[in-house]
Amino acid sequence: MRLSQCHNFADFRELARRRLPGPIFNYIDGGADDEVTYRNNTSAFEACDLVPSVLRGVGEVDMSVQIMGQTLDMPVYCSPTALQRLFHHQGERAVAAAAEKYGTMFGVSSLGTVSLEELRARHKTPQCYQFYFHRDRGLNRAMMTRAKEAGVEVMMLTVDSITGGNRERDLRTGFSIPFRLTIAGMIQFAIKPMWGINYVTHESFRLPQLEDHVDMSGGASSIGGYFTEMLDPTMNWDDVAEMVKEWDGQFCLKGIMSVADAKRAVEIGCTGIVLSNHGGRQLDGSRTPFDQLAEVVDAVGDKIDVMMDSGVQRGTHVLKALSMGAKAVGVGRHYLYALAAAGQPGVERALELMRNEIERDLKLMGARNVADLSPDNIRMLDAYLARVA
Ligand code: FNR
Ligand code: LAC
Repeated sequence: MRLSQCHNFADFRELARRRLPGPIFNYIDGGADDEVTYRNNTSAFEACDLVPSVLRGVGEVDMSVQIMGQTLDMPVYCSPTALQRLFHHQGERAVAAAAEKYGTMFGVSSLGTVSLEELRARHKTPQCYQFYFHRDRGLNRAMMTRAKEAGVEVMMLTVDSITGGNRERDLRTGFSIPFRLTIAGMIQFAIKPMWGINYVTHESFRLPQLEDHVDMSGGASSIGGYFTEMLDPTMNWDDVAEMVKEWDGQFCLKGIMSVADAKRAVEIGCTGIVLSNHGGRQLDGSRTPFDQLAEVVDAVGDKIDVMMDSGVQRGTHVLKALSMGAKAVGVGRHYLYALAAAGQPGVERALELMRNEIERDLKLMGARNVADLSPDNIRMLDAYLARVA
C-alpha cells in the first residue's frame, strides 16, 4: 500500500498501522476506557442529513473562514497533538509545512517535539499554542512569555485533561516517553525496522517546550504520569481569567462542553472555545461535541468563536458542523495517521483530500461560501433527536 492509494481516513489509518510499531500506533488510535465516546464522535455525524440546494450557479467556492482574528483558507485546522516526532521523524515540521501550504492554522502542543519558536519563525500561517496548566506556576509563566515573544497568534488552553484518561491500550503496550521497552515492546519495534532506522538516524527525541523545566531523560514517564504528576488539577476559572488577562490576545479554551461553561468563557474574556472531548481520549461516556454544538452556538455563538473537534473524518462532517454554526473544525488523527504514513507529503495529501471534499461538497450543497450554510441545510433524523434529547 502506497500514499497514492490513500483516498480517505481509513486508508491513511491502515498505512499508519503498517508502518508504526504497535505501541505507537495504539497510542494514536486509542481512546479511554471502552472507547464508547471515541466511536460515538464519528457516528454522531450520521444522525443528521444534509439537504442540498440546487441551481444556485456555483462556479467558484470560497472556503475561507475567520476565527479568533485569523483568516484560514479552509475551515479545517490541525489541532495540537503531542509527540509527533515519534510518529514520523519529520514530526511537527511536516505538519506545520503542510498547514502552511493549505493556508490553515496548526497547533503546537506543550508536549511537542519541535520548539514553538522554530515553527513560528519558519511558517506564515497562524499557529496556536496548546497549553497545559502545570502545578509549577513559574513554568506556566515562562511558557506564556516564550509563546508571546515568539509571536504565537492564538493561545489554546486545554481544560479537559487535568488528569490522564484511562488509555488501556497504552497500559497493555507500556507506551511511555522516552521508550523503556518490555520484551513484547521490543518485538513490536523489531518487526517495523524502517521506523526504527528512521528514528535512530534522525535527531534525538526532545520536548523543547518543557525541557528546561522537566527532566524526562531519567526514566520512562508515561503520558498518564505527566498528567497526574505535573498538571494542576486544582486549575479553576480564576486561574484562567488571570491567564487570559496576562496573555492579552486571542485566547481559547479547548475541551468546553456545557452551555454554562461556554458562557463563563465569554465572561472571562476568551475569544474562542473548542467543543472537544479530546478525541475520546479522556472521559469515556462523555457527549460528542457535534451533539452539543447546536445548544452552545445558540447560547454564545454571537459572542465568541465556537469551534469543535473530535471524530471529524470527512468533508461532509465539516459541512454539518459548519451548518450547525461552528466557525471552524479541528482534526487530530486525520492528519496524524497521514503523518505516520508518509511524513509531510502524507499530511499534504490528507489536507488536499479534505479541501477537495469540502470544495466539492459545498458545490453540491449549492453554497458559494461557508456563510451560505445554515441549520436550514440540515435535517435531524430521529437518531439525532434521541441523542440530543
Ligand atoms: C491529541 N490531542 C491533544 N490535545 C491537546 O490539547 N494536547 C495534546 O498534546 C494532544 N495530544 C494528542 C495526541 C494524539 C496522538 C491524539 C490523537 C490527540 C487531542 C487533539 O488535539 C484533538 O482534540 C483530537 O485528536 C480530536 O479528535 P480526532 O480528530 O482525533 O478524532
Ligand atoms: C494525549 C495528550 C498528550 O491525548 O493530550 O495523548
